[in-house]
Amino acid sequence: MSSAAPKQVKPRAEKRPERKNGGRSTQPGGLRSPHGWQPHVSGALLKKRDELQPVRMALPIWPQAEPIRHALRRNNVLVLTGETGSGKSTQVPQFLASEPWCTKTIAITQPRRVAAISLARRVADEMGSLFGSQSPAARVGYSVRFDNATGPNTKIKFLTEGMLLQEMLRDPSMSQYSAVIVDEVHERSVNVDLILGFLRNLVSDMARDGKKRKAPLKVVVMSATADVKGLVRFFADGLPSPSGSANGTLDVPSTQNKAEPNPLATDQISTCFVEGRQYPVKTIYLPQPTLDWTESSLKLIFQIHYKEPLPGDILVFLTGQEVIEGLEKLVNDYAEGMDKEIPKLLPLPLFAALPQQAQQRIFQPAPYRTRKVILATNIAETSVTVPGVRYVIDCGKSKVKQFRNKLGLESLLVKPISKSAAIQRKGRAGREAPGQCYRLYTESEYTGLEERTVPEILRCDLSQAILTMKARGVDDVPNFPFLDRPPREALEKALMQLLNLGALTETGCISDIGLKMAKLPLTPALGRILIEAAKPERDCLHEVIDIISALSIDGSIFLNLVTEERKEAAEEARRELYRREGDHMTFLATVQQYAEEQTDRKAWCERHFVSHRTMQNVMNIRKQLRQQCQALKLLSSPDPPGPSENKTEAIIACLIRGFINNTARLMPDNVYRTVIGNQKISIHPSSVLFGRRLEAILFSTFVFTNKTWARDVSAVQLNWVEEAWDGMM
Ligand code: CDP
Repeated sequence: MSSAAPKQVKPRAEKRPERKNGGRSTQPGGLRSPHGWQPHVSGALLKKRDELQPVRMALPIWPQAEPIRHALRRNNVLVLTGETGSGKSTQVPQFLASEPWCTKTIAITQPRRVAAISLARRVADEMGSLFGSQSPAARVGYSVRFDNATGPNTKIKFLTEGMLLQEMLRDPSMSQYSAVIVDEVHERSVNVDLILGFLRNLVSDMARDGKKRKAPLKVVVMSATADVKGLVRFFADGLPSPSGSANGTLDVPSTQNKAEPNPLATDQISTCFVEGRQYPVKTIYLPQPTLDWTESSLKLIFQIHYKEPLPGDILVFLTGQEVIEGLEKLVNDYAEGMDKEIPKLLPLPLFAALPQQAQQRIFQPAPYRTRKVILATNIAETSVTVPGVRYVIDCGKSKVKQFRNKLGLESLLVKPISKSAAIQRKGRAGREAPGQCYRLYTESEYTGLEERTVPEILRCDLSQAILTMKARGVDDVPNFPFLDRPPREALEKALMQLLNLGALTETGCISDIGLKMAKLPLTPALGRILIEAAKPERDCLHEVIDIISALSIDGSIFLNLVTEERKEAAEEARRELYRREGDHMTFLATVQQYAEEQTDRKAWCERHFVSHRTMQNVMNIRKQLRQQCQALKLLSSPDPPGPSENKTEAIIACLIRGFINNTARLMPDNVYRTVIGNQKISIHPSSVLFGRRLEAILFSTFVFTNKTWARDVSAVQLNWVEEAWDGMM
């Protein structure tokens, strides 16, 4: 393998599973047993492993196993690019697991929990290992927010980026790992940018002072479309050039965004390119623009189903859970009326908040004479490879985070995707055979799209990122090695918000409260609310955990109802859950009543028009939050309290403490205006307070569509808000 960046590795055929390393390794994945691994695995597991072996060997990345290993024996950093589906996420950790330097665990990060879990399952199958369990035979595990499934012998650990950042707080030198693989770097989430910055500092420290770690940490950066040169330069800039002075000081200043890389250090960064397999995909545009993706998708699904032969599943890219669930229902309704002669249609939703079991269904082959229709968010763009897809329908939009500097608020906006995202989506149709991609936009709309998606760090609320950095000892935030430097205004807003939350001291150092907040897998605002609720004078932690659990899910606990009749029926049925104080207290009542229901929770949900699927998620988050509060000594016992007295006032006070920026008051012209920024805002129709005129409101979500909406709202008194501000001064 070449090490002078950005030269590429020439594929070298690996004729058959290698038998190097003294004949111990049985395959590039390395199921050898120098560390006593692969103990007592069952026959069924081994059978599955053997069945998958030829599939692995047919992947485009397979011939690169040895060059990849060689590169990391030589250098500590490898930048690896390759098309989605070429085998990067499943194979690279297996290639490395048997390396002599790899005595500890391999971490591999994913932007989304669904990918982390499904990859762990797949790699465990390929290795003939159990996964996730406490059994010593489990070699593969995963760690995602609110769900840690790793055992004592986990060798390959898939984890979300957020979880790796949490681990970095506890163990800055990453001493439990031999390698960290950062996957899906092209998505450029804020978390990936932070991880890359921390890793660059670690690699740079290792190069200057080898004693910092007993064995070097190997870093692999993987991506479907990355800017290889930029990444090589980023890591090389942090390295001393080989001619560095004897005391190990850096010759080249550790600045970034320089025009030229540290020329002598670039050969310490290896690169590798894996060519993917792609069949031709025909693109079909709409002749006229549309905004009704649901209807257009529905028509196309049935058109494809009636005209195109099986096999060939359909993958539809939509914007979010609500649209997906709406279309799922419509497809089911229309499919019921289909002639018995026609093969069946099986719609399967795929979005981040979907419970694990439902997510796994998309990987299973379609039943006999059935076509799968996967209704997905942009999660299926690169993160998850869905097998069997021949038809893609792309709505051309995705939900993205957008920070509004003027307001200091972040919202999710539905925005046009970039050209590179559209190309990725189209590519999903040509993985296994020639395919078709229907774009629900015109060709000229496509031409007008941005080339690339703007990295999240340039458009999101940075308070969580900065809290993580401060907790990890980064005092000089502006000089942190960012791949792209966020706007100064956004940095200042975030620092100010952390100061208001009490996470930072006046001098900008992290406070004790801030340290606790950083250890919670919550936004700074929610973390602060939780800590406030644990104070003896508030004494409402269990209740606040229930509310936060309901706020932490993607979407709503209440079913989204389409027809007026159903809406009216739901209003009636939910009356016993609704609270006049607002949505937060309504969530609390819902979670508490659901938890108390012992006989049939599903039926309870149906009666109250509540999503059972979502409530299961809420209960899981609630359990995890209780455990984490116990670990942080905020809670003495994880047991739920007995019947509690009315704690509404204390709960609202805690909410104000975290959401002080998200408050608005009613003006004489009957319009709500935010306390900060004086922005006009309306109570969202989904709120139990919709249409009410209240002195002041607090909201936990800000939605921007044709106008600005406050979602998840509570009624407050203006003097409570003023008192909270005074308390901060
Ligand atoms: O990381 P990259 O996109 O390059 O590929 P990968 O995720 O390693 O996937 C390689 C192949 O493994 C895919 O084409 C799928 O056929 C298979 N795979 C699977 O069946 N189930 C998964 N959960 C993940 C991958």
